[in-house]
Amino acid sequence: MTITIYIPRDTASISLGADDVAKKIAELPEDIKIVRNGTWGMTYLEPLVEVETEKGRVAYGPVTVSDVDGLYKAGFLSGADHPLCQGLTQEIDYLKNQERLTYARCGLIDPLSIEDYKNNGGYAGLKNALEKSSQEIVDDVTTSGLRGRGGAAFPTGIKWNTVLAAEADQKYICCNADEGDSGTFSDRILMECDPFCLIEGMTIAGLAVNATMGYIYLRSEYPLAKEILNDAIRIAGQNGYLGSDIQGSGKEFNIEVRIGAGSYVCGEETAMLESLEGKRGMVRAKPPLPAHVGLFGKPTVINNVLTLGSVPVIMEKGADYYKDFGIGKSRGTIAFQLAGNVKCGGLIEKAFGITLGDMINEFGSGTFTGKNIKAVQVGGPLGAYIPPEQFDMPLDYEAFQEAHAVLGHGGIVVFDETANMKDQAKFAFDFCAIESCGKCTPCRIGSTRGSELIERGDFKLMMELCDLMDTSSLCAMGGMTPIPAKSAFEHWPEDFKK
Ligand SMILES: Cc1cc2nc3c(=O)[nH]c(=O)nc-3n(C[C@H](O)[C@H](O)[C@H](O)COP(=O)(O)O)c2cc1C
Ligand code: SF4
Repeated sequence: MTITIYIPRDTASISLGADDVAKKIAELPEDIKIVRNGTWGMTYLEPLVEVETEKGRVAYGPVTVSDVDGLYKAGFLSGADHPLCQGLTQEIDYLKNQERLTYARCGLIDPLSIEDYKNNGGYAGLKNALEKSSQEIVDDVTTSGLRGRGGAAFPTGIKWNTVLAAEADQKYICCNADEGDSGTFSDRILMECDPFCLIEGMTIAGLAVNATMGYIYLRSEYPLAKEILNDAIRIAGQNGYLGSDIQGSGKEFNIEVRIGAGSYVCGEETAMLESLEGKRGMVRAKPPLPAHVGLFGKPTVINNVLTLGSVPVIMEKGADYYKDFGIGKSRGTIAFQLAGNVKCGGLIEKAFGITLGDMINEFGSGTFTGKNIKAVQVGGPLGAYIPPEQFDMPLDYEAFQEAHAVLGHGGIVVFDETANMKDQAKFAFDFCAIESCGKCTPCRIGSTRGSELIERGDFKLMMELCDLMDTSSLCAMGGMTPIPAKSAFEHWPEDFKK
């Protein structure tokens, strides 16, 4: 009897040796079928090898090539016990305690099997959308409470409504897949492990606003995602899910992947449009909004990968189903990413409202080094540093805003007690100085002066500069640079005396 074994094929698992493990397992003298699935997001267990048994999929990890012979002798092909055995995949606490809506298929399926996709709920959302008017689709997304997952948390329904109402001969859907925040990898995981989910989300967005063309602006550091997306786009087209007559509806939608050249500010939506148009990635002044004058001057929806990736489940299960997850004005689920000095790093999809402490301690299991946590930075390189005293803060947009912090793209980077927060504050300015697009003075010059002031120890002037950058920068790059510096100075003043 053929034994089915799942070995992930995503960038992180491959970097941890998944390809070599797959090769070694293929050489075993048994009738084995290897499926290269996507990761479940339990990065600390990668490469996670799963064996299909009568009881379900039994997981072993992290597996190295040198473990394979021992696993074989212990009988892992029939799901036998072994020190690396994690039990049934679905019963692993890290996974079991999540609420997976957008990532329901990640890890489960072969990312490029459209049959797997459809057998697990895929394209049910598009089917429903094809039976609705554009306005009805937009209304559903509005009712779901979905807000942009790229950082600014802007209500998606309002954005789509603006583009729907705009008169134009051509409209576009642009997917922002620049994913430049430190400690973030959720966009990449969705694109590599369930690419049809993004494709379906973009297609529904196209139907919602009457756009026939979509672009995925992908960061150059993601070559495997590029390959998988391009394969998935081709397969979707061959199966009538993209092209000029989607599922016989007479509706048209097409997608192309475009690669950025490696600049943080090109994730800012207007700089992204400039880059997509083949120009230098400089921020545009707003208004006009991209929803009115966007790509090539046409009305454009710009959404993050996960915003678009949340649309299929909303259209499949209904706006109210999605809205029932979360708290306050933060509805649905968000993909948190645990990184930095953490024991169990990975991706956790959870409804808004879990506390930061529960996320770090229950999922992350504390620091990798075993030392005490000093700080976590949430929301990328321009997010606040948060001390353990504030770990009871719920992870939702409003609670973070109140605490002068940001949830951003859900990245959580953990630092232990050896971190020096003055160095981290200086890093924020140095990062901004390198990545600034240079269009406005507060950010272009302010970032360099901020770094110098920290070096010089003039923290009073640094705080004044922070206020200036906050109030007078043209975009959130310069406007947010003070956040990490100010939070570091506020919570760890002792580090600034050294
Ligand atoms: C400096 C800077 C970098 C950004 N990088 C990204 C990014 O990598 N991905 C992303 O989706 N949004 C990024 N954003 C936010 C986008 O400008 C925009 O708000 C978002 O793509 C809109 O999609 P959403 O409404 O689905 O979140 C960035 C913003 C700034 C100011
Ligand atoms: S704040 Fe910085 S990145 Fe934004 S427009 Fe000004 S110079 Fe460019």
